[in-house]
Amino acid sequence: MDKFVIRGGRRLEGEVVISGAKNAAVAILPAVILSDEPCIIENVPSISDVNICLQILEEMGADVRSVGKDAYLIDPTSINKVCVPYEYARKMRASYYFLGALLGKFNKARVSMPGGCPLGDRPIDQHLKAFSALGAEYTLSQGMIDLKADKLRGSQIFFDVVTVGATMNAMLAAVKAEGLTIIENAAKEPHIVDLANFLNSMGANIMGAGTDVIKVRGVDKLYGTTYSVIPDQIEAGTFMVAIAATKGDAIVKNIIPKHLESITKKLEKIGVNIEQYDDSMRVWVDGPLVKANIKTAPHPGFPTDMQSQIATLLTLAEGTSIITENIWEQRFRYVDELRRMGADITVNGKIALIEGTGKLMGAPVKACDLRAGAALIIAGLAASGVTEIEDIFHIERGYDCMEGKLRAMGADIEKVSVPDKPNAKSENTKAAV
Ligand code: EPU
Repeated sequence: MDKFVIRGGRRLEGEVVISGAKNAAVAILPAVILSDEPCIIENVPSISDVNICLQILEEMGADVRSVGKDAYLIDPTSINKVCVPYEYARKMRASYYFLGALLGKFNKARVSMPGGCPLGDRPIDQHLKAFSALGAEYTLSQGMIDLKADKLRGSQIFFDVVTVGATMNAMLAAVKAEGLTIIENAAKEPHIVDLANFLNSMGANIMGAGTDVIKVRGVDKLYGTTYSVIPDQIEAGTFMVAIAATKGDAIVKNIIPKHLESITKKLEKIGVNIEQYDDSMRVWVDGPLVKANIKTAPHPGFPTDMQSQIATLLTLAEGTSIITENIWEQRFRYVDELRRMGADITVNGKIALIEGTGKLMGAPVKACDLRAGAALIIAGLAASGVTEIEDIFHIERGYDCMEGKLRAMGADIEKVSVPDKPNAKSENTKAAV
């Protein structure tokens, strides 16, 4: 078991290069299955969720090769299994993208239900609704989801909630279905557009991604392509907050500023200076930080995946801030850990009240999910004294060498191996975000 040890109080300076987007990569890698030829995927982040995706592809018979830094050549033509077993699915929530991709290619799929999850109830009813609309039948038994269809036919799909995963899965399943599929109340996140762009670069016919109506006209065949994953909007936002929390001054590189608008606007309101360039931003703080009210919402609203990080920044600001979490019911679990570091936060249902105390103190803490872990790193960087963060496997699922990037910016952070406690659960048995 590894942990991060952070000696706080150092300003972040210099620059950081943002990696490819986790939530785009974990959909694009399964989407390669739909191609009848090999594909090269570039700007793939080095994170454990990506490793699991690649292992699943190999396990199914695909030929996967690393072809240079952050790039993989994947030949899906040798795939001879349509099953994702529990041992993989339990480690990564996004294993559900194999359902849409396998169904779209082979008219059948067998994927273990994604493992338990620390963000509260995470239903997949909207995914199943989309597959049914396209003509697939599903059965759920012994923890497995089985899908099969004689033929997939284009259809109208109206989502009852705005859902990233089901929107992506509907596109994956519809791309080769006969006729026109219309997806209404679709999610609009940058990774939805990235998946559509990738599929279109293989010869798909998808229009409207990035709006709430996506039209997919089915094609017979998809071809090989070379495609580069977009930069990770949440990794960029996390580093922007980390720079602000340490009152630093640094450049965040390899970003798409448009994807960061809701984050940039809030940070400016809090008192953070931001200068935007074509594909980078300078972020710095030279005055006081002030309170803000934030409500999470689907894109283009403020992302839930940045909620814990910005809450940490607000503990360092003047005044009382209010955060409303509208997406995940259990996304305040990090609050107990921040309290151990001196934060004054009260949670009532989906609302958190943060009394800015202006300072945090180092403490031993535990990451309870990916973004909670990122928030604790930010807290540790800004705090006085030493912070030790356990369960960092959560962080490594979604951040590409975070400690190395922070160290290069002047942070005092190291990864330390500690022997497993007797009877401790191994990280592999724990739930995926
Ligand atoms: N929902 C349903 N039924 C469904 C699907 C979703 O009711 O069939 C509800 C959920 O319970 C939730 C809301 O719809 O309240 C939105 O869920 P969504 O489907 O959009 O979430 P997701 O696709 O499972 C992705 C990201 C999450 C991110 C959310 C929201 C991936 C792999 N995961 O999850 O990322 O929080 O969208 O933006 O793309 C993270 O990166 O830390 C992370 C948790």
